[in-house]
Amino acid sequence: MVKTLSSDLAISVENLTKRYGDLTAVNGISFNVKRGEIFAFLGPNGAGKTTTVEILVGLRKPTSGGATVLGFDIAKDLKEIKKRIGVLPQSFNTYDRLTVKENIEYFAGMFDSRPDVDGLIKLVDLEDKKKEQFRNLSGGLKQRLGIAVALVNDPEVVFLDEPTSGLDPKARHGVWRLIEDLHAKGKTVFLTTHYMEEAEALADRVGIIHNGKIVALDEKDRLIAAHGKKNMLVLRKADQKAVSVIGKLGLKANYDEGDVTINLNDGVAVSDVMQALSAARVSYSELQLKRSSLEDVFLNLTGEELGKEETA
Ligand SMILES: Nc1ncnc2c1ncn2[C@@H]1O[C@H](COP(=O)(O)OP(=O)(O)OP(=O)(O)O)[C@@H](O)[C@H]1O
Ligand SMILES: [Mg+2]
Repeated sequence: MVKTLSSDLAISVENLTKRYGDLTAVNGISFNVKRGEIFAFLGPNGAGKTTTVEILVGLRKPTSGGATVLGFDIAKDLKEIKKRIGVLPQSFNTYDRLTVKENIEYFAGMFDSRPDVDGLIKLVDLEDKKKEQFRNLSGGLKQRLGIAVALVNDPEVVFLDEPTSGLDPKARHGVWRLIEDLHAKGKTVFLTTHYMEEAEALADRVGIIHNGKIVALDEKDRLIAAHGKKNMLVLRKADQKAVSVIGKLGLKANYDEGDVTINLNDGVAVSDVMQALSAARVSYSELQLKRSSLEDVFLNLTGEELGKEETA
């Protein structure tokens, strides 16, 4: 296994705890984010995602524990950190009566760097709307402006706190493409989300947070392999004798309302299943492979459902 050098780390969190009175919002979490990766912090409402982000970007002090961002200590070097990071806060809002362009110029003015404002507007695909006031933008366009604002200082690390919450699927996919562009440019992206589809679509590695604790953290495929269910093969409108044919291969299969569901495992190749079905002349109308998902991982580790993507 390749050892990760500290210089490869964009973020390093150690034993971080945040209490609000009696409530422990973040409970002794430790994790690293590598430079250049998209790291998804996945968890339900109230899990502690925003609190963690707020501590990492210097908006809140931890109760105990610490962290470094790009090698700088959040307790001592916030000024250095702030120069090098960009933040899209949860439920981004800005000056209602300033236009897209004026808002970007306003935030750019806070940094010494002189960003290419038109380039940023192009990057987030708001050229048609650059003279539109913020209050007149749709939710998806507001989020895109928020991402442009997060990029005014050409940051190395970008924190995006629930960037697609409340967006319809089209707007959500627009933001996903933008995040992929940032990744392609070599930026490190720290993304919080409660949409497992978002983590699955974008992340290199996923940390699952629940009640202030990290319950799992790994590359998403490894998480699914370790904690997900096994993949399943579903035969629609199938001949019931499929169940016994599959049984002879040592796999479990169930017949329910015309469909046969086969629980796959590593010991039997899908091609062997197909061959056995065809040799026994089992008929079916449709074949579907159901992959295990992060939803299964979350359910398995917490006993709770994370909730499917809302379709607006
Ligand atoms: N300023 C605060 N004072 C008291 N409690 C707080 C404060 N901020 C957050 N909390 C509580 O801390 C817990 C974690 O909140 P946090 O906002 O970090 O969760 P989250 O994972 O971002 O949730 P969401 O998905 O809803 O944004 C919640 O129980 C929340 O109510
Ligand atoms: Mg939050």
